[in-house]
Amino acid sequence: MAPSTLTVTDNRTDRTYTLPIENGTVRSMDFRQVRTSDEDFGLMMYDPAFMNTASCRSSITYIDGERGVLEYRGYPIEELADRCTFLEVAYLLLFGELPNETELKNWVHEITHHTMLHETTKKFMEGFRYDSHPMSMLVSTVAALATVYPEAKDVQNPANRLHQIKRLIGKMPTVAAMSYRHSVGFPYVYPDNDLSYTGNFMNMLWRMVEPKYAANPVLAKALDVLFILHADHEQNCSTNAMRSVGSSLADPYLSVAAAAAALSGPLHGGANEEVLKMLDEIGTKDNVPAYVRRVKDGHGKLMGFGHRVYKNFDPRATIIKQVADEVFEVTGKNAKLEIALELERIALEDEYFIKRKLYPNVDFYSGIIYQAMGFRPEMFTVLFAIPRTVGWLAQWQELLVDTEQKIARPRQIYTGQRSRSFLPIEERHPAVLAGV
Ligand code: ACO
Repeated sequence: MAPSTLTVTDNRTDRTYTLPIENGTVRSMDFRQVRTSDEDFGLMMYDPAFMNTASCRSSITYIDGERGVLEYRGYPIEELADRCTFLEVAYLLLFGELPNETELKNWVHEITHHTMLHETTKKFMEGFRYDSHPMSMLVSTVAALATVYPEAKDVQNPANRLHQIKRLIGKMPTVAAMSYRHSVGFPYVYPDNDLSYTGNFMNMLWRMVEPKYAANPVLAKALDVLFILHADHEQNCSTNAMRSVGSSLADPYLSVAAAAAALSGPLHGGANEEVLKMLDEIGTKDNVPAYVRRVKDGHGKLMGFGHRVYKNFDPRATIIKQVADEVFEVTGKNAKLEIALELERIALEDEYFIKRKLYPNVDFYSGIIYQAMGFRPEMFTVLFAIPRTVGWLAQWQELLVDTEQKIARPRQIYTGQRSRSFLPIEERHPAVLAGV
C-alpha cells in the first residue's frame, strides 16, 4: 500500500520533507520545519476565509457538499426532520445519541423549566428603541444574560456548562419573542410551560387577550422541522465565531452572542431577510429575467443562492420545499412564491449559475414560509438563531473537551511599512487613508 505521506521539495534549498497525511489532511504546523535558515520563521499556510483549512476535529455534523448529504451524529437530516422533534434532535447533537423515552421526557422538562427570564432582563429589553431590529436586540440581550448568571464563567466545570446549555436553549425563544413583541409595541408574554417548545414560542409571539393560546398544529410542526434543519451545520461562519470566542474561555452567553452576531450578516443567516427584500424588489414574475441579467452583470447577488460547501443542492432546501406545501395548505400561498419559483427555474437553467454551481440554499425558501406563517422579515434571522444555538453549544462543548484545541489565533502576512521615522504633526500632509 502506498504510504500515507506527502513529500515536498523546497526549491529554495533543495531539501525534501516527508509529512504525514491523516484523514486527508496535512498539519500546517508540519510546514514550519520548511525553512531557508535557522532565522527563518518557517513556512505558513495562507488561507483567507478558511477555504481549505480544517480548524478542528468534530463528530457532530457531517456534510458532503458534492452529494448534498447532511447528517447529525450520523443520522440523515431527512429522517430526523421526518421522525423527531426539535428537542430530541437537540439532545442528539449535544450528547451524541438519540434519547430514549425517559431521557427525552426529562430533557423536555428541564428545557421547559428554563424558559423564564429574570425580570431585570425584561427591563433591559424594555430599554431598546421602539423600532430596534429584533436580531440586534437578541444579540445584545443574550450577551446581557452573562450579567444575570456570572457563575457561567466557570466553563471548565462540566455540570455548570450543562446548566448554562439548558438555560440558553430554554431562554432563546423567550428572548426572541420579546424582541419581536418589543419591535411591534406589544406587551411581552410570559412562557407557558404546558406547551411544546415551538408551541410556547408561538404563544409568546402571538397571544393577545385569549386566556390560552392554541398554536395551529401544522404550523407548530412546520416550525419544529425548520428548527431541526437549522440546528447545526458544522464549521460555518457563526459556529467558527462561537469556537473562536469560546476558545478564550469566555462565558457561553457572550460566546453565543458573538456567534449570533456573525449569523446576522446578509451573507450568512441574514440572507433569508435579504431574499424577501429581493423578491419585493423584483415585484412580479415578468421582472425575473431582467433581475437575473443584472446579477450576471455584476450588480449584486441572488440572495439565497450559493453555498461554500454545497455545490449541487442543499438538502435542507429540498425538505423546506415540502414543508412549504403543508404550510401553504393552512395559510394560503405566499404571493412571493411564484416569483421565487420563476427565479429558481431561470437561474438553474442559466450558464452563469450552472458554471458556478449556484443553487438555492436553506435561506431561499425559509423566508417565504416564515412570512406565510405571519413572521415579519426582520424576525427571520432570529428564527435561525434559536435552533442554531443548540449547534453552537454542541460545538462549544466539543471544543472545551478537545485537548488539541487552544486559544484561536491565526497568523498573518504583514504587508505594511516597517520602522518608519516618526513625523511631528507640523510636518504631516493630508494622505490617502488606509481602508477608506
Ligand atoms: N449570486 C450571484 N453570484 C454568486 C452568488 C449569488 N448568490 N454567490 C456566489 N456567486 C458568484 C461569485 O460572484 C463568484 O463569481 P466569480 O467566480 O465570477 O467571481 C462565484 O459565484 C463564487 O462565489 P464566492 O463568493 O467565491 O463563493 P463563497 O463560497 O465565498 O460564498 C456565499 C458563498 C457567501 C454563500 C455566496 O454564495 C453568497 O454570497 N450567496 C448569497 C448570500 C446567501 O444566500 N447566503 C446564505 C448562505 S447559507 C447560510 O449561511 C445559512
